[in-house]
Amino acid sequence: MTDRYAVIGNPLAHSKSPFIHSAFAAQTGEPLTYSALLATLDGFAAAVAEFANSGGRGLNVTVPFKLEARNLATRLSDRARAAGAVNTLTFSADGIAGDNTDGVGLVHDITYNLKFGIAGRRVLLLGAGGAARGVILPLLSEAPAALTIANRTVARAEELASRFASAGNVKGLGFNDLRNREFDLIINATSASLRDELPAIPGNVFAKHALAYDMMYGKNTMPFLALAKGVEARTADGLGMLVEQAAESFFIWRGVRPATAPVLEQLREAAA
Ligand code: ATR
Repeated sequence: MTDRYAVIGNPLAHSKSPFIHSAFAAQTGEPLTYSALLATLDGFAAAVAEFANSGGRGLNVTVPFKLEARNLATRLSDRARAAGAVNTLTFSADGIAGDNTDGVGLVHDITYNLKFGIAGRRVLLLGAGGAARGVILPLLSEAPAALTIANRTVARAEELASRFASAGNVKGLGFNDLRNREFDLIINATSASLRDELPAIPGNVFAKHALAYDMMYGKNTMPFLALAKGVEARTADGLGMLVEQAAESFFIWRGVRPATAPVLEQLREAAA
């Protein structure tokens, strides 16, 4: 019996998830298929129900349905609750379990693949939307010296920081407050890159040997990573995060942890 999984979103044309999960299945010998399920903007719940009722076992959820997925889940993991969003649904006789693997995917990419330890480091998170919120708890779990959330709209950064105050040393501020401050790890979680824009941060936020990480991948990451390269910071895009969050979903579903390095290498080669 082959188990069925899929990624659900809109748009989906360029989703790499079917490739990634099919590669994980081939590598581990798990008997599953993984496809792409395009839902209409008002048809998410119906598409999920149809998939689950026809025997589907689990879904990855992407833009713009992660909040709807949280509301649809009958059980939430702690990290999904903290993220306020769900990217992994699992169907069983007990109901619909919702989890969020984005944050742990980011942390695994940074610590395992890029071999950059977060503990004790000064971390700057740019942005205060859904993408930023999803990674805060996993970042704090690594015990950074401090996590600073900076956002164009300062109040959103402050609100987010106060929401997570009990989980670690976290502060919210505006881009102007970053002058004369430097950080070891700078993560771009804004959607600025989508419009070829750059968050208005001062160039001196990058400490010597800093890692600049853009959670997006592909040509969209150019403005932010170019700024970082200009001050000789190390740079990374979010392709590794994409593969790592997929691996964590695969583990939730199958109880098997696939090797991510060969799959990431194949994606990099295909993009080159
Ligand atoms: P997502 O779910 O992708 O995080 P979102 O909730 O719309 O999307 O949040 C987008 C984030 O990118 C916000 O932090 C936004 O800043 P504001 O809260 O001030 O709107 C940030 N953002 C988008 N365009 C930006 C730009 N050109 N410069 C800086 N920040 C930007």
